Order: sequence, then structure tokens, then C-alpha cells
Amino acid sequence: MPDCDEPQPFNSVGAAGIGGVDPSRVRPTATHAAQFAPTEREPPASQPFAAILTHNRRGWDDMACRGHPLARPASEEEVREPLANLDLSWIDGGVSGKRILCLAGGGGRQSVLYAAAGADVTVVDLSPAMLALDRQMAARHGLNLRTILTTMHDLSMLAPECFDVVLQPVSTCYVPDVKAVYHQVARVLVPGGLYISQHKQPTSLQASVQPGMRGYELEVPYYHAGPLPPVQGSPHREYGTLEFLHRWEELLGGLCRAGFVIEDVAEPLHARADAAPGTFAHRCMYIPPYVRIKARRTGSPAKRVWVPGS
Ligand SMILES: C[S@@+](CC[C@H](N)C(=O)[O-])C[C@H]1O[C@@H](n2cnc3c(N)ncnc32)[C@H](O)[C@@H]1O
Repeated sequence: MPDCDEPQPFNSVGAAGIGGVDPSRVRPTATHAAQFAPTEREPPASQPFAAILTHNRRGWDDMACRGHPLARPASEEEVREPLANLDLSWIDGGVSGKRILCLAGGGGRQSVLYAAAGADVTVVDLSPAMLALDRQMAARHGLNLRTILTTMHDLSMLAPECFDVVLQPVSTCYVPDVKAVYHQVARVLVPGGLYISQHKQPTSLQASVQPGMRGYELEVPYYHAGPLPPVQGSPHREYGTLEFLHRWEELLGGLCRAGFVIEDVAEPLHARADAAPGTFAHRCMYIPPYVRIKARRTGSPAKRVWVPGS
């Protein structure tokens, strides 16, 4: 069994090539989506918060060890040309010399590319196996980065205002409360600092995977509470993890209330007009799966805005 199945304390800090997990023992075995078969794991009957974290940590450890596409480290070629493989369009002045936090960004890809591009990188993740990939890749390429094993809503081991940029790939779906995450990010960013985050869109989490007679249908209420029903066989969900729907008011309003101004919003394109019904690209023609938000930390949190029903 790989080390990622060993219990690991939360809140542990490591550096490239050292730490609680031996990176050489965590090797993805397959790198193609078609080769990845999800494990059979049903959600636990009750989900107090610690149980959610434990469940998701195991799920991601498992994905890292089994070579899930989302746990695919940067290739040698990509590390040689980091700027050609990073989207820096929202990062004014590039990343060289900037203090960057890759939040929930383990897996040996983003952290390593940003470090290769000259950034001072810290990567936070819940999964020891995902972080082991970051350390393994950093050691292989002679790069420095810091890894921290913790949950995204507890960054208490980090000093206030210690980052210029926080980058968060799709991951807020793994915690029930996005508000706590936003407040932690606001605390560790310098005033004027940039927070670029990507999230699963609520409609995508509500809608059926396959089209029926009337197309894609809303199966989950917008006000659904608790973990979403598990979905297998679609790239818009990670089977084996517990995922949560965050409403637009929480995703966007929550940022403003945590002291950010939103500067831009994008919907990464996964749709293809000629895609066959039942494929991910076809579903994406009707339902964009993700939203990307560019937010900047201001001095003070905005007042809560009135929303219907609040
Ligand atoms: C979509 S992956 C992101 C990294 C991936 N390498 C990529 O290329 O996008 C989501 C990450 O979120 C992490 N994660 C899940 N729940 C978390 C939590 N509560 N706190 C911190 N990280 C978490 C997972 O371990 C996983 O590494």
C-alpha cells in the first residue's frame, strides 16, 4: 500500500523532497482518463466536518496514487517552458518574485510550474499523496517550494498578509462552507493582493449527467443541504469524494463580504458544438461546468447586500 493511506496529522509543513510521505513511493500508475476506474466508496452515513475531511482526504490520496488525470504532475517539457503552460493573463506583471499560495493545488503541476517561472511557492492541500507529488516534482527539478498539509479553511499556521497572489483550482466543492475559506484567504493576502479561484457552477451540480427526452434536467434543488448525491462516470464530479453545492450568492457575494472586489469572471470553455449527446462536451454546450473569478483584496469587507429570502 502506498504511504498515502497512512494517517497524517493535519497542519503539517514540509519542503521539497522531505516530509511525512516518501514521494518516491507515491507513483501514479496511469495517466489517461480512460484508464482511471473509480473505487467503490460510498459516503459515510453521517458527515460531521472531520468525517468529511477524512473522507475527502482518502478520496484524493486514492486518486493521486491511482494516477487520476487531476493528479497529473507537470511533464518535463512543461517544466522547461513554464510560461507557455501557465495562464497568466490575470496576473499583472507576471509571477517572478511573487509570493504565491497554491490553495488546494496539490498534484505536482501548478506549484511546480509557478516555481519554475520564478515564484516563491507554497502549496496547501488536504491530501498527503497530492503534496508528495509536489515535493517529488520539485526535488526532481531542483525547485524550492513549501508544502502544507491542512484544510483550506484553516490557514492559521500562515502569518497574516504573507502572499501576493492566491491561486485556487476547483476545490471549494469539497467543503460545506466557502465563507470560511474566503476569510482565510483574505487574511493571508496583502492588501491589493490577487485571489484567482475556480469553482463548480451550481447548475452543473444540479443537472443530470445524461440528457433525457427533455434534455438535461435539474435533479438536485438549488438549496440542497449536505453532500451531493454521488455521480459516477462524469468529469464534472469526483466519485469517492463528498462534494457540496455553493450558490452564486455564496460564491460571488461571499467574496465581496470577505473584503474582495471582483475584477473579472470567466467560464472556461469545455463545450463543442459538434459533440455527441452524452459526452461531457455536449453537456457543456448547455451547462458550463466551471467559473473562474478574479478578485482583489481591499482594505475592508463590504456590507452584506440584501438578497431575496435573506
Ligand atoms: C482539482 S484538484 C486541484 C489540483 C490539481 N492538480 C489540478 O491540476 O487542478 C483539487 C485538490 O483539492 C484538494 N482538497 C480537497 N479538499 C480540500 C480541503 N478541504 N482543503 C485543502 N485541499 C483540499 C484535493 O486534495 C486536491 O488536491
